[in-house]
Amino acid sequence: MTTALITGATAGIGAAFARRLARDGHNLVLVARDTERLRRQATELHDRHGIEASVLSADLATEAGIASVEARLGDAEHPVDLLINNAGFGNKGRYLDVSMADELTMLKVHCEAVLRLTSAAAASMRERRRGGVVNVASVAAFVPRGTYGASKAWVVQFTQGAAKDLAGSGVRLMALCPGFVRTEFHERAGMDTGNIPSWMWLDADKLVDAAMKDLARGKPLSIPDPRYKALMGASKLVPRGMLSRVSSTTGRRYGPQ
Ligand SMILES: NC(=O)c1ccc[n+]([C@@H]2O[C@H](COP(=O)([O-])OP(=O)(O)OC[C@H]3O[C@@H](n4cnc5c(N)ncnc54)[C@H](OP(=O)(O)O)[C@@H]3O)[C@@H](O)[C@H]2O)c1
Repeated sequence: MTTALITGATAGIGAAFARRLARDGHNLVLVARDTERLRRQATELHDRHGIEASVLSADLATEAGIASVEARLGDAEHPVDLLINNAGFGNKGRYLDVSMADELTMLKVHCEAVLRLTSAAAASMRERRRGGVVNVASVAAFVPRGTYGASKAWVVQFTQGAAKDLAGSGVRLMALCPGFVRTEFHERAGMDTGNIPSWMWLDADKLVDAAMKDLARGKPLSIPDPRYKALMGASKLVPRGMLSRVSSTTGRRYGPQ
């Protein structure tokens, strides 16, 4: 039986990965900060699918949190075959409305944690000559969208570069770029989603099914929905200024700070 480790496993896209991978018969290591919620989820997945689900409470905005997940990924006696780097969040506001501490926390969770966990996993996967890493980025990686978009652009570039360097090693890396997905993300960030058209919303379970297909095909970049594939294609033809205006308004209305 293989083992998958998912960060940000308790909600949204991470929870959808956990459901899908449990259904496929993978044992799971579930990572997030809320220990009680992790335990409930592990019990539910074990009872429903008969897999082993263990819990690793870690705050990936901290050195100790990143180090504890790195250590689990490097444990040669309990190898991890698939890593889903999914934990992430949006900040409550636009550039200069967000504190420097919150900007830096975002870079720690979206970039430093992704770099270190990918590297810990990939090094031991390369020795075993098999394994996979999915780094959850966003279509925001391709449009001007503050630190969030910049951090996700880093995830895409880093993952595609690492995938190239590890070609032929048996280790697959893929950056996953969802559009708007109905999860806890926007509420947690205090975002008013009223101006996001209903056709732009994706379902987390369908998104994960499409992502798993792309991973099996060996794609280094996955934009899993035809609507967003078309939008990303069209965005290359739109003048940068117009793209910037649309991108900085859609889904970026914030509630009281
Ligand atoms: N929803 C969208 O529209 C959308 C679109 C594109 C990309 N994404 C990306 O998809 C990923 C998942 O987002 P989501 O929409 O599923 O969000 P979500 O529903 O808010 O879930 C976020 C998950 O991450 C965990 N988490 C947050 N901060 C963490 C930290 N410091 N350390 C460890 N775990 C942490 C949360 O659990 P705890 O609070 O218990 O730690 C939770 O399990 C993110 O990387 C996000 O940027 C989302």
